[in-house]
Amino acid sequence: MEQIGVSPKSYDAQFPSFACPTPIGEYTINEERKIEIGRAKARYLYSRLIDEKGLRLDLSDGFATFQPKDSDQKLNALLAWICTQSPSGGRLKQCLHETDFVCWRGLLTKISATPFSQNDDWSFIARKAKGVIFLLEQETEAQALRKAKMSPRDHLMTYWGFKFEQYTSTRDIDGVPSTSEPVTQNEEFGVVVKTKLSTPNGPIRLVYSGEVDCIDENGDLVELKTQRQALEGGFWRQKSMKWWLQSFLLGIKQIVVGFRDDEGYVHRIQVSPVVVNDLPRKGQWQGNICFNFLATVLGKVKTLLENENSSEPSCTITYDPTKRSVTFEKNLVEDFFNTDFRHHFSL
Ligand code: A3P
Ligand code: MG
Ligand code: MG
Repeated sequence: MEQIGVSPKSYDAQFPSFACPTPIGEYTINEERKIEIGRAKARYLYSRLIDEKGLRLDLSDGFATFQPKDSDQKLNALLAWICTQSPSGGRLKQCLHETDFVCWRGLLTKISATPFSQNDDWSFIARKAKGVIFLLEQETEAQALRKAKMSPRDHLMTYWGFKFEQYTSTRDIDGVPSTSEPVTQNEEFGVVVKTKLSTPNGPIRLVYSGEVDCIDENGDLVELKTQRQALEGGFWRQKSMKWWLQSFLLGIKQIVVGFRDDEGYVHRIQVSPVVVNDLPRKGQWQGNICFNFLATVLGKVKTLLENENSSEPSCTITYDPTKRSVTFEKNLVEDFFNTDFRHHFSL
C-alpha cells in the first residue's frame, strides 16, 4: 500500500503543465433525470440584478417546497453522455479523445484542495475499463455523520444557494426568473471538457464534467455563488480556493456573487471583485500546490493500474485527516458502470 503526504511545501514547485480545458460536450439532465444533448435547456444569467441598488431577495422563500437532488447518481449522467458520443458503440477510449481518466469535476476540486483543507476527508475508487480509468467519489463515514447531524438551519442555508440561482437565472434567453416555482435540484446543465496534465509519472489526459449554473448573453459560462456580506479571513483562506478550483477546472472566468446577510437576504449582486483570475492573487493558498498535488495523486493511480492482468483493475484512494496522508490500495471495488453502458461498449 502506497502513501503520500499532503503538506503544502512538498508540492510547492512550478505549476504543472495544464492545458486549457476544451469543451467537448454540453447536456442537460431534465426532471426525469434523462439526458438531452446541447444547451437548449440550459439556464441564462438574468443580468439585470447585477449592481442593482436597494435589493432585498429573500433566499428562504419557498424552502418548504424544495426538491433536493436524488442521491447516489454515481457517474450515470456522464456515462449516458459518453454513450451519445458514439451511438453505435465502438472503441471506448477513441470516443473519449484517447483519455486516461473520466470523472466529475467535483472530485478533482476536492482532491486539489487537500493541501490547504487538511481536515476534509475524502475517498474515491478507480476502475479501469478498456484503457480508461473511471473515478468515483465515495462518501466517507465522517461525511455521512456530518450530513446526519445537519441542523434545520444548516439545511435552510444550503437551500439559500439554490434559491439564489433561481432569482438570477432564467429558462429562456430573454426571459425573467420564475421565482414562484419550487426550487429543484433535479434539472442540471453540464459541460464536459478535455485537458492534459503533466504528472511526476508522465502526462495524462482527462475528460471530466461539471454542472454549470448559467450562460451569459455572450454565451460564456457563469458560476453563481452566495456569500456573507463581509469577505472575512475564512473566505480568503478556504472558500476562494474552492471557488477558483471549481471554476478554473472548467474554464469558467466569471463568478456572479450575491452578498447576503445572516437572515438570508441578498442586498447586492456583483461580478467583480471575484473574477476567477483574481482569486489566486488575493487568496491565502497557492494554485500551483493544488495542481501539483492533484497531478501526484492521478499519476500514482495511473501507474498503479498499469500492467494489470485483471480485465478491470481497480483501487481505492483515501485521504485520512488524522494521519495527514493519502493511501493507494489495489483492491476490488464496486462495479459502477450500469448495464446500458456495459452493453453499449461491450464491456
Ligand atoms: P452557494 O455556493 O451559493 O452557497 P454551486 O455553487 O456549486 O453551484 O452549488 C450550489 C449550491 O449548493 C451552493 O450555493 C450551496 O447552497 C449548495 N452547496 C454546494 N456545495 C455544498 C456543500 N459542500 N455544503 C453545503 N451546501 C453546498
Ligand atoms: Mg452549481
Ligand atoms: Mg453556484
